[in-house]
Amino acid sequence: MFARNSCRALVYRKLLNELLKRNRYLSTNQNLAVVTASNIVPFKLADIGEGIKEVEIKEWYVKVGDHVKQFDKICDVQSDKANVTITCRYDGQVMKLYHQINETANVGEPLIDIQLTQDGTQQLHHTPIVQDDTSEDRSSSTSTGFTPTPQVLATPAVRRLAKDLQISLNDVQGTGKDYRILKEDVLNFDKTKVGLPSTGTTTAPPTTTIQTPMPIIPPSPSTVKQPIVQPPTRTVVSPTATVQTQPAKEDRHETIKGIKKIMVKTMTQANTIPHFTYCDDYDMTELVKLRKKLKKLYQQEKKTLKLSYMPFIIKACSLALMEYPILNAHVDAKCETITYKAAHNIGVAMDTRDGLLVPNIKNVQLLSIQDIALELTRLQQQGYQGKLTNEDMQGGTFSLSNIGAIGGTYAVPILVIPEVAIGALGKISLKPCAPENLDDSSSSSDDDEDSYPDVEFRHMMSISWSADHRVIDGATMARFSNKLKSYLENPMMMMINTK
Ligand code: COA
Repeated sequence: MFARNSCRALVYRKLLNELLKRNRYLSTNQNLAVVTASNIVPFKLADIGEGIKEVEIKEWYVKVGDHVKQFDKICDVQSDKANVTITCRYDGQVMKLYHQINETANVGEPLIDIQLTQDGTQQLHHTPIVQDDTSEDRSSSTSTGFTPTPQVLATPAVRRLAKDLQISLNDVQGTGKDYRILKEDVLNFDKTKVGLPSTGTTTAPPTTTIQTPMPIIPPSPSTVKQPIVQPPTRTVVSPTATVQTQPAKEDRHETIKGIKKIMVKTMTQANTIPHFTYCDDYDMTELVKLRKKLKKLYQQEKKTLKLSYMPFIIKACSLALMEYPILNAHVDAKCETITYKAAHNIGVAMDTRDGLLVPNIKNVQLLSIQDIALELTRLQQQGYQGKLTNEDMQGGTFSLSNIGAIGGTYAVPILVIPEVAIGALGKISLKPCAPENLDDSSSSSDDDEDSYPDVEFRHMMSISWSADHRVIDGATMARFSNKLKSYLENPMMMMINTK
C-alpha cells in the first residue's frame, strides 16, 4: 500500500507540474478573459462528444445562492444518447441559473454563473477551463452519471463503471500508463470482491453483475463462477406503458421535447432514405424447445440467467452477418462511402423509461449466447432506470426491434442511420403449418381435398427487414434472411459455427 501511495505521489507531482505549465499558457489566454470584475464566471456546458449539440435540463442540484465546490453535482441533462450528470469545476457561489427544467441548453453556452471564492479564483488559475479540452479525462466538467473521485487517473467511462459496481477507485490498482485505472482493473477488482477469478484483459463487454437498485441474488458457493443476474421484472416497465382509463375532458397540448424531439429528428432523417421491406416466416419450434431445456438446466443448477429468445436471435444475426458483411455497414451522409464495420454492435430497440432507445451490444461476434443474455439484461435494467450511457448507445452497426415482446406480428422498421439494415421481430406463436419438407408435387389438387396432409402446429415468428435500397438489394437481404432462418430453425448449427 505504501509503495503504491508513493507511486501515486510521484504521478501527482508530475501532473501538478504539467498543470502549472499549462496554467502559464492559459493565464495569458482565454482563461482570465471569462472572469468579470466581480469574480463571476459563466460555467459552460462542455462538449459531451458524439456530435451532441444540445441537451435538455432534467434536474437542478443547485439554486441561486448555493455554495458549490469542485465536483459537486450541478444538474442532470439528457441528450439524444444518454443521461449525463454535470459536475462543477469551481468553488464559489451560484449567482444565476440560465435554464428552467425541461429547457434546452446548448453546448458551449453557460449553464450557471458562479462567483468564485478566493480559493476558487486560484483554482481557476490552476485548472485548465478551456471548453474544448481534448484530454481523455474530462470528468471534472462533464460526467456521465457519476461524481468523479479526484486524484485518480481514469476515463469517465471507467469512473461510471466503478460507480455502477459500487467500487471506490481509490481501492483499485491502475495498470495503465502513469497508473491510470483501466476498465479491466475495475472489472478484475470487482471479481476479486465477489470471489471470481481474474480474467485479465478482454475486449468483451462486462459480464459481471451490474449493481443497481434491482434485486440481485447473491452467489451461492456452488454458483460462484457464474455471473448472476436477477432479471428485470415487468413491474418496472416504462411509464410510457401507463394506461389512462378516465376519458379526457378537453384537448391537451404537449411540447415535443427530450427523446421524443430527438425521435422527430432521427426518424425524419431516416425516412428520407429509400428503403425496402422484406418479410418471411421462421419456424422457431426447435429454438423454443432448446430454450425451454436450457432454462430448466439453469434452474436445476440454481443459476439465474434471463434467457429470452433475443440472445439466440442476436447471435444468429451475427453469424449470418459474417457471410453478408454489407448488412453490417455504415453509409456516409452523402452516400459516397460504405464502411464495412468490423465489430457486430447489434442494437436492440428498447422500450425504456425515457421512450424508445436503441442501445447496442458490442462485439457480438466475440460473445457467447450467455454473454449476450447478460449484456442485454444489463441494458434493459439501465433502460428501465433511465441510466443508459453514451457508451451503451454509441457505435451500433445493425439493429433489431422485438415488437413481438409486446405482441405484434408485422412491422415495417425504420433504419437507424447510418446503419443499412434493421429487422422487426414478431411474436412467436403457435400456427398451423403444412408438414415440414412437404413436396409440393405430392400436395393434392382442389378436387382431391381428402388427401390433404394433416397440418402441424409449429412455433412461428415473422421477421420484417428494412434495408437501405441505395446500397442493399432485395436478393442480398433475402439470402441473409435465409441464412439467419437456417440458424434459428436448426439452432445446433449455431453451435458449430460459434467461435
Ligand atoms: N415472441 C414470443 N415471446 C417473446 C418475444 C416474442 N417475439 N419476445 C419476448 N418474448 C418473451 C420472452 O422470451 C420472455 O419470456 P420468458 O419470461 O418466458 O423468458 C418475455 O417475453 C419477456 O421478454 P422481455 O423482457 O421483453 O425480453 P426480450 O429479451 O425478449 O426483449 C427488449 C428485450 C428490450 C427487446 C424488450 O424488452 C423491449 O423493450 N421490446 C420492445 C421493443 C419496441 O418497443 N420495439 C418497437 C420499436 S418501434
